[in-house]
Amino acid sequence: MLDINKIREDFPILKQKVNGKPLVYFDNAATAQKPKVVEDAIVEYYETINANIHRGVHTLSQLATDAYEESRQKIKAHLNAKEDREIIFTAGTTFGINLVANGFGALLKEGDEIIISAMEHHSNIVPWQFACERSGATLKVIPMNQNGELLMDEYDKLLSKNTKVVAVNHISNALGTINPIEYIIKKAHEVGAAVLIDGAQATPHIKPDVQALDCDFYVFSGHKVCGPTGTGVLYGKEEWLNQLPPYQGGGEMIKTVTFEKTTYACLPHKFEAGTPNIAGGIVLGYALDYMNEIGFDNIAAYEHELLVYGTEKLLEIEGVKIIGTAKEKASVISFNIDGIHPYDIGVIVDKLGVAVRTGHHCTQPIMDFFGIPGTIRASFSFYNTKEEIDTFIAAVKKAKMMLS
Ligand code: ALA
Repeated sequence: MLDINKIREDFPILKQKVNGKPLVYFDNAATAQKPKVVEDAIVEYYETINANIHRGVHTLSQLATDAYEESRQKIKAHLNAKEDREIIFTAGTTFGINLVANGFGALLKEGDEIIISAMEHHSNIVPWQFACERSGATLKVIPMNQNGELLMDEYDKLLSKNTKVVAVNHISNALGTINPIEYIIKKAHEVGAAVLIDGAQATPHIKPDVQALDCDFYVFSGHKVCGPTGTGVLYGKEEWLNQLPPYQGGGEMIKTVTFEKTTYACLPHKFEAGTPNIAGGIVLGYALDYMNEIGFDNIAAYEHELLVYGTEKLLEIEGVKIIGTAKEKASVISFNIDGIHPYDIGVIVDKLGVAVRTGHHCTQPIMDFFGIPGTIRASFSFYNTKEEIDTFIAAVKKAKMMLS
């Protein structure tokens, strides 16, 4: 059992009023709020050890380097990666996917195939389109059904010896579907393809074990797991990271440079050109500590309760249609109300203190599939409550009445 009142005390922003009403923050799939321990750690870093890392012999530089590398160790432990050099700090999920897709763009050739799914975020579509344009490879898409579940028999049919990469999300940001990534990874490996899992929406709810999953790449964003924006992680199996070319050139990623030829640094530095978000990388470790202390099993169980409660209450409102009704779902509810534009609902509930996301959620192909312009999306975190869901439901009812 989680002590939600105690947890809420850790998040100063939750005490705020918005438009004169107590804030109900249900836009957690976009970004999570930050606990005080994370905020304090940012200030402490800048007030005590701020310096550039991996560069100086002076004490502050060494302290900052140690703290940054300690965070890498924490992330390695969190993901159960084999080696710390398999953990690459990035600016977020988008950066991580672009890094990998750019590398495959250089490695693939005409006739090769990349498989993604019908429910990808644009950030797991567009980089692969770039890779196809560059290499001549072809993009294939795993279709889904009306519940928002991927069709695994269709996936089986798409796989062949031409498949070189499979890139899918662990959890859909727009539908909440938890995808059967174990099966997807196993089948891709049977044809020798590499697998990238977009874990942006999964990592706030699930602690992934990359060795048990046996995925080749797993990417996520720091800001969705209570860490700072502009932080993220790319996990890659060492043998794959060694094969991929560097993504950005600059300081830190080189071994030797002459005007004729440059040789590259070892992992992880080969992929970490330039001065990174040092404070952010360090503090991401604190954010994961915080979530691990609460416990991902506790988080998932509690959020599931919120999902069930929220779904039930929402369906009591006439005209509500939930988009994304997969059997396995995370705490994300996308919905529409007959005859009302999602944006209008979003604006009115905001006036009542409730923050939700409206629109296509960077998943236009999903909206096209369902033939809708967008949805209203409420996404719950472990610091939300059933009382907040009641406030949200009352706000939706009021908005509906005003707009009907
Ligand atoms: N990808 C994030 C979302 O779904 C921003 O809202």
